[in-house]
Amino acid sequence: MLDIRLAEREDLDTLFALDQACFRPGIAYSKAELKYFLFNPASISLVIEDDGQIAGFAIAELAPDRGHRIGHVVTIDVVAEQRRRGVGRTLMDALLDACQRAGAERMRLEVAIDNNGAIAFYKLLGFEETGRIRGFYMGRLDALRMELDLPSRHTRFAPSR
Ligand SMILES: CC(C)(COP(=O)(O)OP(=O)(O)OC[C@H]1O[C@@H](n2cnc3c(N)ncnc32)[C@H](O)[C@@H]1OP(=O)(O)O)[C@@H](O)C(=O)NCCC(=O)NCCS
Repeated sequence: MLDIRLAEREDLDTLFALDQACFRPGIAYSKAELKYFLFNPASISLVIEDDGQIAGFAIAELAPDRGHRIGHVVTIDVVAEQRRRGVGRTLMDALLDACQRAGAERMRLEVAIDNNGAIAFYKLLGFEETGRIRGFYMGRLDALRMELDLPSRHTRFAPSR
């Protein structure tokens, strides 16, 4: 059974190991960076557990942007053996809900141009490509910028009657 909770300080080592496993050197965060993002007061950091075992985590940072509040997805990491079972979607739905409750109107993220799985995942959630940032990773790998308008989200996914 999947459960979602806020990240806690004791999770740091496990979440760091998961981030190192999910991303190549140069994209994975250092432990100090991850600790900062997880527990920064502007962050919403969620952990998802499957039968008490951590199956993934996600972080968004709330920030002002031209008079509006946006939620910036810092990362989403799902344990390799748990992928394609709906864990990422369940986690991201909870993160988007939490950002919306905290006043965010729009979500934004960057994803490596060669991370086709993640790009497909974000598109499924309704994110749209809004730009390309040259050399965003390590000065040599481009990122796609993707954004999602939160108020339109529930309208788009509302079940038909
Ligand atoms: C991207 C990631 C978070 C997706 O997590 P997940 O738990 O596998 O996602 P879900 O099972 O909820 O997938 C939902 C849908 O997204 C799409 N999707 C997810 N992963 C996909 C992949 N590798 N290729 C194509 N489509 C994919 C599919 O439509 C999937 O539905 P389906 O399995 O019924 O076809 C996970 O692959 C991951 O942690 N990757 C490594 C870290 C990473 O790249 N994070 C994002 C960086 S910005």
